Amino acid sequence: MKIIKVELPDHSYNVEIENGVLNCTGQLVSSIWSKRKIALVSDSNVAPLYQDRVADALESVGFTVHNYQFPAGEASKSLEVLGNLTREMAADGFNRDDGVIALGGGVTGDLAGFLAATYMRGISLIQIPTSLLAQVDSSVGGKTAVDLDNTKNIIGAFYQPDLVIIDSETLQTLKTRDLVEGYGEIVKVAALSDGDLWKLVQSINSPADILANAKELSIHSVQYKANVVMGDEKEGGLRQLLNFGHTIGHAVEALADGDLRHGEAVSIGMVAITRIFEEKGLSHEGLTQTLIDRLEAVGLPVTSPLLESPAVFDKIKNDKKNRDGHLNLIYVHQIGGPAIKSIPSDDIQDFLDIKTVKV
Ligand SMILES: NC(=O)c1ccc[n+]([C@@H]2O[C@H](COP(=O)([O-])OP(=O)(O)OC[C@H]3O[C@@H](n4cnc5c(N)ncnc54)[C@H](O)[C@@H]3O)[C@@H](O)[C@H]2O)c1
Repeated sequence: MKIIKVELPDHSYNVEIENGVLNCTGQLVSSIWSKRKIALVSDSNVAPLYQDRVADALESVGFTVHNYQFPAGEASKSLEVLGNLTREMAADGFNRDDGVIALGGGVTGDLAGFLAATYMRGISLIQIPTSLLAQVDSSVGGKTAVDLDNTKNIIGAFYQPDLVIIDSETLQTLKTRDLVEGYGEIVKVAALSDGDLWKLVQSINSPADILANAKELSIHSVQYKANVVMGDEKEGGLRQLLNFGHTIGHAVEALADGDLRHGEAVSIGMVAITRIFEEKGLSHEGLTQTLIDRLEAVGLPVTSPLLESPAVFDKIKNDKKNRDGHLNLIYVHQIGGPAIKSIPSDDIQDFLDIKTVKV
C-alpha cells in the first residue's frame, strides 16, 4: 500500500493507494473513525457497481451504513440534490458525530464533500474516488462545491477529508472517454512537474496503457498535488499552478455546453496557452508539439473551433480566478518549468491573441 500524507495546519490525512483496496475499506475506515453511522453517497452508475461491496466491508467491522444514490452527471451538483441528500440524512437521524463517504467520480466527491461540509455545520468526510479524474485530482485538496444555474462550483467550501482511499481497479469499469478525460489532468501535472511522472507519461500511447499504469500514475499525480496543497491550502499562490490549461480550457468547456468533458477542455487549453507562449518566445520551441503528441496518443482533443469564438474572451475575463483586475496565466516554459504571468484583464485579448492559435 502506498501512503501519501497530506499535512495541513489544521487537518492532516492519508491518501492510501492500492489495487483491490476497496475490499479493505472496513479496516481502513475503522483505523481512523470510531463506530458511527455512515452516509455512503454514490451516483446511479457507481452505486450498482460498488456501493454494496463497500457497505458490506464497513458493516462487517461494526459501522451502520445508509446507502444514498443520486442521478449520475454534472446536473446533480445542485442545491436541489444537496437538499434531497440532507433531507434523507436528517430523516435517518444523522448527527454531528456521524460521517459521510463519497464513493464515485468528481461529481460525487464535490457534492458529497459539500454535503459533509454543510450538514449540521460539518461532519466527518472520507473520499473513495472511482474515476481517474477523481483519483488523481479532485479527491485530494479539499475543494467541494455545487453549481448554480450555469456557474460551476459557485457555492462551495474548502473541506478536507479524514482519509482518501484509491483503488485503481475500479477504473476497469469506467468508460474509455471518462478514463481518457482524467488522463488530461495527469499530462498537466507531468508537464508541471517533470521527473518520473513525465517519463511515465512518455510511455503511455493508448487508453489500455493508462489502465495498466493507473496506480503509478495516481501515486505521482497525488504526490504532486499533495505537495502543492501543503504549500498553499487555499490557492493564494503555488496552488494556482494547477490551473495550467484551465483559463482557456474553462472558457471552451463553458461554450461547448456539455459537449466537452473537463479533462478534454483542459487538454485544448494547455495546447492553446502553450502555443501562445511559444510564439511569444516565452516557452521552448517545440514544446507545443511535445504536449500534442502526448495528448493525441490517447485520443484527447488538442484544439476546438470554439477557440475562434469571440465569446471565449468574455468567459476568460469573467474567470473567477480573476483578482484585482488581473488574471494570472499559468504556462510552462519547458517540461517541469511552470511559471505565472499576470496580465491586466483589459489587456487579455491582445495578449492571448487567440487568432494565432491554429484550429
Ligand atoms: N474538487 C476539485 O478539486 C475538482 C477538481 C477537478 C474537477 N472537479 C469536478 O469533478 C467533476 C468531474 O469529475 P468526473 O470526471 O469524475 O465526473 P463524474 O463524477 O460525473 O464521473 C464521470 C462518469 O463516470 C462514472 N463513473 C465514475 N466512476 C466509475 C467507475 N469506477 N465505473 C463506472 N463508471 C464510473 C460516473 O457515474 C459518471 O458517469 C466536475 O464536476 C468537476 O468540477 C473537482
